Amino acid sequence: MRGQTMRGVTGAVLFGAGLLGAGLPGGGGAAVARLAATPAFYTEAQAEQGAAIYGERCAMCHGAMLEGTYETPALTGKFVANWAGRPVGDLYDYLGRAMPQFAPGSLSGEDNARVLAYLLKANGYRAGQTALPADGAGLHRAVLPAPGPAR
Ligand code: HEC
Repeated sequence: MRGQTMRGVTGAVLFGAGLLGAGLPGGGGAAVARLAATPAFYTEAQAEQGAAIYGERCAMCHGAMLEGTYETPALTGKFVANWAGRPVGDLYDYLGRAMPQFAPGSLSGEDNARVLAYLLKANGYRAGQTALPADGAGLHRAVLPAPGPAR
């Protein structure tokens, strides 16, 4: 009888710990705390639409989890280091100019912004109230902050 009760309590504690960790991909709490102070570049809705576009136009090369392959770079981790400290517009322009690799420039400006929003979200940058614009001008004034130490 007593043993039954103890198992019940332990189960509840483990379940609670699981909830705390849920919804935090990659770095978890520390990464979120680190990025909490960074500016928000995109909206949640944009990132959601971007995820769908990514699935159709990018995932076949970069992987469903952005993990890359031996011939295609991953779009998480080191990817951010390649672009952090530079205007977000550089990355936006690169996507418009070079991706998807078999049909560069085939996405509309809006879709480019959506995919970029998805990439930012996947790398721990936070969503805000203002949408990522679909023209380079404003994006060239906004510098992408470094996400912090290696994830
Ligand atoms: C046909 C395969 C293919 C498709 C489809 C593709 N890519 Fe790429 N992508 C590549 C390759 C290969 C590279 C490396 C290019 C190079 O080094 O010049 C690359 C590079 C990149 C980079 C730069 C990575 C870095 O570390 O700097 C980004 C960002 C990117 N792709 C995003 C996208 C997005 C977003 C899409 C979908 C709209 C997409 N790619 C579709 C093959 C592809």
